Amino acid sequence: MRKILVTGGAGFIGSNFIRMLRAKRPDVRVTVLDKLTYAGNPENLAELVESPGPGGYRFVKGDICDEALVDGLFAEEDFDRVVNFAAESHVDRSILGPRAFVETNVTGTFTLLEAARRHWRSGGEGRLFVHISTDEVYGSLAAGERSNEDSPYRPNSPYAASKAASDHLTRSYHRTYGLPVVISHCSNNYGPYQFPEKLIPLMIINALQGRELPVYGDGRNVRDWLHVADHCEAVELVCERGEAGRTYDIGSGREMENIELVRLLCDLVDEAVAACGELRRLHPFDGPRRRLIRFVADRPGHDRRYATDSSRIRDELGWTPRTELEEGLRRTVAWYIDNRRWWERVVSGEYRRYYELQYASRTNA
Ligand code: NAD
Ligand code: TYD
Repeated sequence: MRKILVTGGAGFIGSNFIRMLRAKRPDVRVTVLDKLTYAGNPENLAELVESPGPGGYRFVKGDICDEALVDGLFAEEDFDRVVNFAAESHVDRSILGPRAFVETNVTGTFTLLEAARRHWRSGGEGRLFVHISTDEVYGSLAAGERSNEDSPYRPNSPYAASKAASDHLTRSYHRTYGLPVVISHCSNNYGPYQFPEKLIPLMIINALQGRELPVYGDGRNVRDWLHVADHCEAVELVCERGEAGRTYDIGSGREMENIELVRLLCDLVDEAVAACGELRRLHPFDGPRRRLIRFVADRPGHDRRYATDSSRIRDELGWTPRTELEEGLRRTVAWYIDNRRWWERVVSGEYRRYYELQYASRTNA
C-alpha cells in the first residue's frame, strides 16, 4: 500500500483511521475525499498538514457521486487502495429523509467502483477497493444468534438497505469485472470524534448538561459495541492482507442492552464530575444522572439485536479487539469532557434543528 484514497475521511471512523495510519505508516500517501456534510468536520483532521509526493497528504472537498471529480483524482493520484467510508450513516435520519442515503451510499459507491474499474483496467494487481459496510445489513437477530459472512441480507431501515445495495454492487464488480474488492461489516463503533446524534455521545453530552436521556422503546435492544481504534486496526489489516473477493465481519462480541449501557454512562459521567471541582461548577446537576433517563416512543422498524461473529478476520488476519468496553467507555467520557469546544460547535446550528425534529415528537412512552 503506497497511495490510498480515503472517502469520508472527515467523519468519525474515517478520521480515526487516518490518524492511526499516519502514525503507523507515514510512508503512505493519503488523499481524503469528503463532501463535508453535517457529519464531516475538518477539525477532525486539523493536525494534518497538506504536502505533495510519497507520504504526503491531500484533502479534497467533494462528493463521491461527482464522476468527473472522482475520475480526475484516480488519474492524478494512481491509487492502489481505496477505503470507502463516505456514507450517510444515521438510521434515524434515514427514516426522516431516505433520499440522501440512496444518493450517497448507492450512487456514490457506484461512482467510485466505476472509476476504479476504468483506472485499474490493466488488472488489479497490488490494488484493493475496501468497502466499509455494517452488520445492520443482516437485520435483527434472535437471542443467541450471530451473523457472519454467509448470513442472509435482511436490512430493515433505509440506511441498512442502502448499505446492502452498495455491498451488492461492490460484490458484483468483483464477480463480473474482476475488480479487487473487499467488503467489511462492522458492529456499532464508539470513541472520540463521534457525531453527537449517535447513542453514546448523545447520552454523554446530555448527561453532562443535565438534559433528558431519551431511550427508545423498552431500552432492551442489544448492540455489539466496538471501540473505533479496534475497527481501524481491522481496516488496516484488511488493506494490507485482505483477500480480493472476500468479506470480513468485525465485532467485539461484547453485547449490551441500551438501557444497561445508558445507566453505565450516567455512572461514568457522575464519577467524572464528582472528581473535578471545575466540572461540578460547569455542570451543577444535583443527584445521580440515571434520574434523567426517559423512555420515549420507539424507532420505527427498530432492530432488536445485532451480534457479529468475527471468527474469519480473527483466524485469517490475526485481528483481535484490544479495548475492553467499560475502559473504552470511561476513556470516551473523558474525551468528551476534555473536548467540549469540539462538541459545543458541533451541536449548534443544523444539529439543533435535527434534534428538535427528531425528539420533539417522541414524548415519553
Ligand atoms: P459519519 O457520518 O461520522 O461520517 C461520514 C463521512 O462521510 C462524513 O465526513 C461526511 O461528510 C462524508 N460524506 C457523506 N456523504 C458524502 C458524499 N456524498 N461524498 C463524500 N463524502 C461524504 O460516519 P461514520 O460513523 O464515520 O461511518 C463511516 C462508515 O462506516 C460508513 O460507511 C458507515 O456505514 C460505516 N459503519 C459505521 C459504523 C458506526 O458505528 N459508526 C458501524 C459500522 C459501519
Ligand atoms: P445508534 O447509535 O443510532 O446506532 P444504530 O441504530 O445504528 O445501532 O443507536 C444505538 C441504539 O440506541 C439503537 O438501538 C437505538 C438506540 N437509541 C436510543 O435509545 N436513543 C437515542 O437517542 C438514540 C440516538 C439511539
